[in-house]
Amino acid sequence: MNNRKIYFAGGCFWGVEHFFKGVDGVLSTMPGYANGDAGWGGQAGGSSSTGWGGQAPTYEQVYTDTTGYAETVEVIYDPARVSLKKLVRLFFASIDPLSLNRQGHDVGTRYRTGVYYCDADDRLTLEEAFSLMERRLGVPPVTELEPLQRFWPAEERHRDYLSKNTSGYCHLPFKAFKYLRLYQDLELLLGDEPDMVARQAQTAALLQERMGFFWTGFYNVADGELVLGPFQGPPACFRIARGRGVCGTAWASGRTVVVPDVEEFPGHIACSSQSRSEIVVPVLRDGAVTGVLDIDSTAVGTFDETDAVWLELVSDLL
Ligand code: SME
Repeated sequence: MNNRKIYFAGGCFWGVEHFFKGVDGVLSTMPGYANGDAGWGGQAGGSSSTGWGGQAPTYEQVYTDTTGYAETVEVIYDPARVSLKKLVRLFFASIDPLSLNRQGHDVGTRYRTGVYYCDADDRLTLEEAFSLMERRLGVPPVTELEPLQRFWPAEERHRDYLSKNTSGYCHLPFKAFKYLRLYQDLELLLGDEPDMVARQAQTAALLQERMGFFWTGFYNVADGELVLGPFQGPPACFRIARGRGVCGTAWASGRTVVVPDVEEFPGHIACSSQSRSEIVVPVLRDGAVTGVLDIDSTAVGTFDETDAVWLELVSDLL
């Protein structure tokens, strides 16, 4: 199959390029400036080897935030190894899709989020991914979905920036890169093994090994209760009723529950006095909750939206 291209604006392009370089099936990346104002820098259709017309903006010009250009990364991928659907899901896991013109510390229209496509046939797949995100968020993402109008590669010094400057600024949290690696390795590890206990056991083991949590495991719905499944860590409670504790709350609501401090969560069930914060992610099949993935930490405030979005991706693999 032929290689394909898609363009992601996700804030500072240094971090976005570094993130997509870590995605299996991505063949090459190029940071640049996309979809600036049509009249900027000369007439469309003017002389240009790229075919966009007009003139390439410089980093400094884009930095003034008056050109309409967004810092964007061109991603060339092998569709036999990674689907567009997966790329967009990973993209959404790397941005704050509710933050308008701001990602991390970076503010301005040049840091808006967007997905820009060259092939109109990609539009349907992208719309489906946006709808999925909207269902998760409860409101539409502020991320743009548009055809690519113009793209200019960035200056050499911005290319591969974080590989060349390993302690350079990156607006993405470090754990997003850890989760990306984990997610891809887990997908390979699980393969097409059909047994759910086996899949959950491997998932708990890999999460525990890579992320160093205190307790990682599953509770599965059986006989109208949550019953302890495969886990890593100290012994835990056998059964949890629907609506009880953090696990029962996630089951009843069908939504991820992040608990920064277990002492502040009414009805928290303390299987261990060492657990100080917790996240519980529903495991869904055909829209129904069949169990939960529960993770505990001995520190307060371990889990946030980054953990939620990535652990939901992990749960979907099951
Ligand atoms: N704390 C959970 C119970 C399970 S343990 O954390 C392993 C809860 O409140 O549901």
